[in-house]
Order: sequence, then structure tokens, then C-alpha cells
Amino acid sequence: MLLGQKNEIKKFSFVKKNVIIYHSPISEASTKDDLDVLEEANFFFQNLQKLNYQPIILPFEVNLQQIISEIKIHYPEFVVNLVETINGNGKMIAVAPLIFEHLKLKYTGNSAESIFKTSDKLIAKDLFLRYEIPTPKYFSLTTSNEINIEKNEQFLLKSRWEHASIGLENKLFNDKTLIINKLENYLKEGKEFFAEKYIDGREFNISILSLDSKPFVLPFAEMKFIDFPNEKPKIISYDAKWNENSFDYQHTQRSFETSEKDSELFSELKFICEKIWKVFSLRGYVRVDFRIDKNNSPYVLEVNTNPCISLDSGFLAATEQAHLSHTEIISQIIKDMNKNF
Ligand SMILES: Nc1ncnc2c1ncn2[C@@H]1O[C@H](COP(=O)(O)OP(=O)(O)O)[C@@H](O)[C@H]1O
Ligand SMILES: [Mg+2]
Repeated sequence: MLLGQKNEIKKFSFVKKNVIIYHSPISEASTKDDLDVLEEANFFFQNLQKLNYQPIILPFEVNLQQIISEIKIHYPEFVVNLVETINGNGKMIAVAPLIFEHLKLKYTGNSAESIFKTSDKLIAKDLFLRYEIPTPKYFSLTTSNEINIEKNEQFLLKSRWEHASIGLENKLFNDKTLIINKLENYLKEGKEFFAEKYIDGREFNISILSLDSKPFVLPFAEMKFIDFPNEKPKIISYDAKWNENSFDYQHTQRSFETSEKDSELFSELKFICEKIWKVFSLRGYVRVDFRIDKNNSPYVLEVNTNPCISLDSGFLAATEQAHLSHTEIISQIIKDMNKNF
């Protein structure tokens, strides 16, 4: 074989495959939690390069013609879906993967259907009940469950669609009329909220990564509340997540410490995580938030499909505990990609 020919073959086998990393569109009005997606895009970018792909980062605009022309220009092998909000609206989270499916594009993370069912917290809770997955008692203005509030029960008011503790008040309520009033007022402002029983106890954020397309429950992260005054509800608020100078940020801490006496609880949590993976047909990467009551019974608060993977994220902290490298995580997510539609 002539030298020139050999080089041609070599060059051809090293042609890198393009990947588009689509993230939530960012504007001047974007808040810290929205801007975090850029860190995540950067994380995927760097690791895809290490895996020999040619990635490009683009904001996702809801404009079918624009997306089609971007696909024609870059001709990606697949798309990384980091779209969480559109114009800051969490309710729009399933729009991007629906469009990817419409265009028959392979994309990372969870399917449009799984994303929709989990990000609508009321639909998710209805499904938890149907499949006997424990979740705190709740009601909304639209659900038909009977509203009976016991004397010793406290309720917090949560957004049906938002994440990152957006809109979560650090207040608990016990009065049914007051709660209904507050829910109606939220609705008048165009916000859908519901009431959920406050579980006074430990909190766990449990990350799951698909390993060879099976769910691998990563080491459990307990969120510890340090020196919270007695009267202050133990809630991982928006401040606790995003405002470094706040009391809540400085007095909450992630811990991976385990104790022998938790072994029964931990196997129950693992069992619930694997059940959730099956019930919601999950893929790639997920984080489940739990609270544990005084009787050591676990309750699922929510399922986060495609949770944030940036350098300071809880998901990455959990993978570090399991000694998984960054490129290993990304290759496993690619392996479990959505392509069955
Ligand atoms: N029923 C509940 N009991 C106790 N704490 C809760 C409850 N629901 C939410 N919280 C607190 O609020 C935080 C945010 O609620 P969550 O349901 O995880 O929504 P998101 O993280 O999507 O905003 C939780 O991490 C937890 O600290
Ligand atoms: Mg949460």
C-alpha cells in the first residue's frame, strides 16, 4: 500500500462525530438556577471531546425551522438534551425532547413522556399512589382527594411545575381554609400550587445512573440541617441551593456518611429507586428526593429526570463516591440514549 493511501484511511477513521448540546435558552432575565445549565453544557462539552466527539453548544429556541437548519448544518450523531425551561417556564420542559422525537433524533437522558410525567408533580404523585410508592399526603384545587387535615399535621405549599425550590415558602400551614385561600391566590397570579404534608425528618437525595442500561443506585447523599432553630422548618429552600450568603446555604450540608443502623432503611430506599426507574421507564440519569419520618418510613418528594451534572452538583458528588470518572458517566449516558421511537 502506498504511504499516501494509508494516511487517507487513517484520516477517515479519525473523522469525529458531531454532537449538538442543546441547553435552555438564556436571557438577561435568567436567574442563577437557569444559568447553571451553562456549566452543565461545558461539562458535557469537555467530556464529549475527551470521548473523541466534536460537540457544539447551542441554545434551544422553540422554532422548528431553525432547529431543522441547525441539524442540517451540523448533522449530529445525537443531541444532548439540557433543556429544562423555556423563557424560565418549567412547564415547557418536555417540548425539546418532543421535538427531537418528531425529528427522529437520538437524544441523551429521559424520554419526553418520562420527563412530562415526573416534572408535573401532581401527575407524578398520582402515579406514585397508583404503584404504591410512598409519597406525602397532598391536595390541590384540581385533584379530587378529600382534604382532611389532622391537628398535628403541617402542610407546605409547592409549585406543581417548578424545580430548584422556586416559589417554595419557608412556612407551614395547618388551617384548611387558609391553605385553600393561598392556593386560589396563587392561581389568580397564574401559578399552580398544591399543598403537601410536611415530613419532619431526614432528607436524602439519591442519584441513579444507568450502567450498561440498568439502574445503578449511587451512594446516598443525606442533606443535613445544621443548628436550625426549632421553629424554623427544615426545608432545602431556594436560598439553600443558590444563595451562598444565606443562613440556609451555610447551615445545610451534604453527607455520605453511613451507619450500620441505617441498613434496613437504605435497602428500602434502593428498592423504591429501582421501582421508580421501572414505573416511569427512566433512562440515563435521575435523582430522587426523599424525606424520612420519625418512624423511619421513607416518602418520595419528587423524581428529577436529567438532574444537573455540573462540577458542584449533587449528582457528580455521588458518582465521585462510587469512583466513576467523568468520561465513564457520559459514556454510560450515551449508551442508554433514547432511540426507540
Ligand atoms: N413534603 C415535604 N416535607 C418536608 N420537606 C419538603 C417537602 N416537600 C418539599 N420539601 C423541602 O423542599 C425542598 C424542595 O422540594 P422538592 O419537592 O424537592 O422540589 P424541587 O426541588 O423541585 O423544588 C426539598 O428538598 C425539601 O427540603
Ligand atoms: Mg428537589
